Amino acid sequence: MKLLLLGSGGREHALAWKIAQSPKIDKLYIAPGNAGTANEGENVNIKADDFASIKQFVLENNIDMVVVGPEDPLVKGIYDEFKHDEQLKSVPVIGPSKQGAVLEGSKEFAKGFMQRHAVPTAAYRSFTSETLEEGLRFLETLQPPYVLKADGLCAGKGVLILPTLDEAKKELKEMLSGMFGNASATVVIEEFLSGIECSVFVLTDGKDYKILPEAKDYKRIGEHDTGLNTGGMGSVSPVPFADKEFMQKVENYIIRPTVEGLAAEGIDYKGFIFFGLIRVDRDYSCAKAGDPMVIEYNVRMGDPETETVMLRLKSDLVDLLEGVAEGNLAEKSIEFDPRSAVCVMLVSGGYPEHYEKGYPITGINDVKDSIVFHAGTALKDGEVVTNGGRVIAVSSYGANKAEALQKSFQEAQKIQFTKKYFRSDIGEDL
Ligand code: AMP
Ligand code: GLY
Repeated sequence: MKLLLLGSGGREHALAWKIAQSPKIDKLYIAPGNAGTANEGENVNIKADDFASIKQFVLENNIDMVVVGPEDPLVKGIYDEFKHDEQLKSVPVIGPSKQGAVLEGSKEFAKGFMQRHAVPTAAYRSFTSETLEEGLRFLETLQPPYVLKADGLCAGKGVLILPTLDEAKKELKEMLSGMFGNASATVVIEEFLSGIECSVFVLTDGKDYKILPEAKDYKRIGEHDTGLNTGGMGSVSPVPFADKEFMQKVENYIIRPTVEGLAAEGIDYKGFIFFGLIRVDRDYSCAKAGDPMVIEYNVRMGDPETETVMLRLKSDLVDLLEGVAEGNLAEKSIEFDPRSAVCVMLVSGGYPEHYEKGYPITGINDVKDSIVFHAGTALKDGEVVTNGGRVIAVSSYGANKAEALQKSFQEAQKIQFTKKYFRSDIGEDL
C-alpha cells in the first residue's frame, strides 16, 4: 500500500515510525514532514492544508490512503474534499468529516454535543458581544477560578483560567471584542473542574471503536507545572491512576456515548478521537469524586502523547487504519506493549514565547537507548537544525516509568543545540 501522511511535528514522526513498520506498506510519503520523517519515508514539499496540491499528488502517485496528523486540514474539510471528488472518492482519508471536526473546531458545539449525549463535562454557558452584560452577571454567580474559552481554534491559547472576578470580567470583555479575532466572537464560560488530567484516544470507523493506550502530557513550560502553557513538554503511558475501573467508566460514560452520538447525529467520523479527561477529586452534578469528566475533544492524536502511545501499540497500525477505512474495525484486534513508555521534549530556549530557529543539532546519532522523534527540525545544507519551539522528543521504553525516564534523561544529554531546555520532572507527579 502507498500511504500519504500529512503534518510535520513530533506526532507525525511517531506515526510515520509506526506506519513504516507495517508489512502492508510499500511506500510512505509525508507532507511536508521534517528532518526525522525523512528517515521513515519520503518527504513531499506540500503543506498539510494545500488541498489542491495534495489531491494532485495523490492522483499522480496512486496513493491508497491519506492519514491526517493535525486538526487544521480536518477542520478545513479535507475528508469532504476527497469524498466529493469523482476521482478521489475511493481514496480513504483517516480523519473526521468537516462536520465531525467541529468537535474540536468549536468549543460551543462540543459542549452542546456532550450535553445532548449526557457525556459528563463542566456546566457552561456561552456568550457573544450582544450578550456581554449577561456574561458579566453570569460570572458573578460562579466561584473562582473562572474558566473562559474562545469558541474557535486559537493554537492552544484560547483557554484562560483566572483567579479573580475582576480579571475574568476584563478578559471576557477583551475576548468578545476580538482578542483572538473571530475565534473569540463566542466565549464559553464554564465551571472549574478540580482533579488530574489524562488523555484517552480511540480509533473509530463510525460504528465501532478501539481504545489506544492512554497517556498523560505535561503542558506547562516550568518544572512542577508552573509558567506558561505549551504544546506539551513530555508524556507518560500508561497512566497509573487510569486503572481498569476508571477506564471502564471512561468507556461507558464517555467513549460509547460519544461514538453513538456522532452516529445518531449523522456525523461522518472515521478517524481518531482524543478525549482530554480529568479525574475529578470532588463531586460535580454529573460525576462523583474519582470519576472521569471531559475537558475537551480533539479530532486527532495528541502531541506529545503520540510519541509514547505509538511505542505502546503492539498491533499493526496500518491494519487498524484499514479497519477504519473499510468499516470493519470490530473484526480487528488491538494489543498493547506492557512496558512503560515516556517522552521528554527538548525545546528551544524562550519557547513558548520568542525563540530563535536554525541552530545546528548534534548528537542525535549517539542516542542508543531511546527513540528520537523530530518535532521542529529541518535539514539545511545536509545538517539537522532547529526549526520550531518543540524540537525533539526523546522517547524510551522501560520495565517501569522510572526506568524509561532514566533512559530519556540520559539520552537527552547527548543531543545538543544552543539554548536547549527540557523539563526534568516529567512523570514525577504520578
Ligand atoms: P483545552 O484547550 O480545553 O484543553 O484547555 C486547556 C487546559 O485548560 C486544559 O488542559 C486544562 O488544564 C485547563 N482547563 C480547561 N477547562 C477546564 C476546566 N473546566 N476546569 C479546569 N481546568 C480546565
Ligand atoms: N498534548 C495536547 C494536544 O495535543 O492537544
